[in-house]
Amino acid sequence: MSISSLELSKFPFSLPSLPFEDNALEPVLSKESFDFHHKKHHNAYVVKLNELIENTEYKDLTLKEIIQKSEKEGKQAIFNNAAQVWNHAFLWYSMQKNGGTKNITDKAKALIEKSFGSVGEFQAKLIDAGVTQFGSGWAWVVLNKSTGKLEIIKTANALTPLTNENLKPVITVDVWEHAYYIDYRNRRPDFLKIFTEELINWKFFEENTK
Ligand SMILES: [Fe+2]
Repeated sequence: MSISSLELSKFPFSLPSLPFEDNALEPVLSKESFDFHHKKHHNAYVVKLNELIENTEYKDLTLKEIIQKSEKEGKQAIFNNAAQVWNHAFLWYSMQKNGGTKNITDKAKALIEKSFGSVGEFQAKLIDAGVTQFGSGWAWVVLNKSTGKLEIIKTANALTPLTNENLKPVITVDVWEHAYYIDYRNRRPDFLKIFTEELINWKFFEENTK
């Protein structure tokens, strides 16, 4: 399922599949890490969201509408689970085998140089956003629709730039401990470094910057 079809999907939600085999990113991210992060953590958000909205007006809305409405109305539990369903699917698409700055495409490189000066500066800023996100959350590359430039932001817990009309999400990296603890233990900076060097999916990145 693509991200846009996920956004348009409705209750009952099912776990979005990975866009690659669960061992495809080894040795950077192990099959075991996906057994937990995808099959357990991501799935738990899907199951909980279905439980929370089953007998509510949210039942007839699309996933994107649920995220927008629950944030606006302060329905924290619905928002958290709905946003995490989307955030995680967006994360899976943000990664590929043999991606990252070691394998950057000419087009992505040009876009990054326009916004950040150099690929090195981009990488340093993305790592810094993830490292300095206190507690659980996400680091994002977003397209600022007003300026036409890329930016790097961080969000806490389940918060997502999807609900910011001026920002278009480009790629994300999960910095909840469950995202890296199996393979990197407490070494969040090491995980972020290897994510930026080897995992960023440039095809997805380019699609989202059009
Ligand atoms: Fe996660």
